[in-house]
Amino acid sequence: MTSRIIGTGSYMPAQIVTNDDLAKIVDTSDEWIASRTGIRNRRVVREESTSFMAAEASRRALESAGVKPEELDLILVGTSSADHCFPSAACEVQGELGAVHAAAFDISAACSGFLFALNTLQAFIQAGMYKTGLVVGVDCLSKLVDWKDRSTCVLFGDGAGAAVIRAEDTGIRHTVMKSDGAKWKVLSCVSRTNGNFINGRQPKQGYLYMDGQEVFKFAVKKVPECICEVLNESGTDIGDIRYFILHQANYRIVESVAKRLKQPMDKFPMNMEHYGNTSAATVPVLLDELNRSGKLKQGDRIVLSGFGAGLTWGATLLEW
Ligand code: UT7
Repeated sequence: MTSRIIGTGSYMPAQIVTNDDLAKIVDTSDEWIASRTGIRNRRVVREESTSFMAAEASRRALESAGVKPEELDLILVGTSSADHCFPSAACEVQGELGAVHAAAFDISAACSGFLFALNTLQAFIQAGMYKTGLVVGVDCLSKLVDWKDRSTCVLFGDGAGAAVIRAEDTGIRHTVMKSDGAKWKVLSCVSRTNGNFINGRQPKQGYLYMDGQEVFKFAVKKVPECICEVLNESGTDIGDIRYFILHQANYRIVESVAKRLKQPMDKFPMNMEHYGNTSAATVPVLLDELNRSGKLKQGDRIVLSGFGAGLTWGATLLEW
């Protein structure tokens, strides 16, 4: 028994922020951002909360799967920007959907959040504990970036993607998850629990910090490695993969991974041009776009791969 994705959904805020808009607030240009990253626009919330975006994406995923909220056994949300320290975004989504029979909790794995949540749900289903689950990748990094820091604020956007998973005989074939906590400092964000009043330090919330070049080097090495691992361990020929759906951080990272894997670029769909890096949401949003545009055919073999703060990274091989 394994699990299969039976429905997808996504939600992107309506407000579009272009590279030219950003050039009005920091010393940057459309030319720099587009040529270094492939990003031209990003969506930024006006009123929407993280759990609102997650619930909207989830509704669309449930609708596409033909599954009722009451059928869900487990809801996992991969996010680094939940609206509350507690409860989890997953519990807020559960309440919003009326998924009265589900257990719900968040997975904190930054940009790998959707992948780690998907693999966790798969493990529960494989163990026979649950039959039907919902996995969400959502982030609202516009609330965590320093809008005066041109090296990070131009990269990120807000959004949510979701998938409904059900126990079936075919679907997810193999999963790989990795972490390297020794490198946590290269991509981090201080939380409000840092400091306390007793020792005289005010609790504070910091901005996102990133050593871009370190993250870049890590991604172009580790992503191909874990993709090869998931393929080798499952005995799958790389030539049989229809799509590699990678975390959408930078088109140069995607191109480098394709080159290292010796695979053609048409197997690597991208959408960071429109949405920027939406952290945990990039993989499920791209998956939903491909699904809704009819590009995924039953039996297609697909590799999903995420990477981000932690450091965390991983890959999932599945049959559509
Ligand atoms: O989802 C989390 C995972 N995150 C990532 O995958 C990000 C990985 N890293 C990257 O994508 C790239 O490292 C960046 C896009 C973040 C940066 O690209 P880069 O080619 O590594 O640029 P850089 O940091 O080496 O900066 C080059 C120059 C610097 O100026 P000097 O020192 O050469 O004069 C920066 O100050 O570009 C400057 N710069 C900018 N200029 C205009 C940095 N940000 C900007 C900007 N506009 N927004």
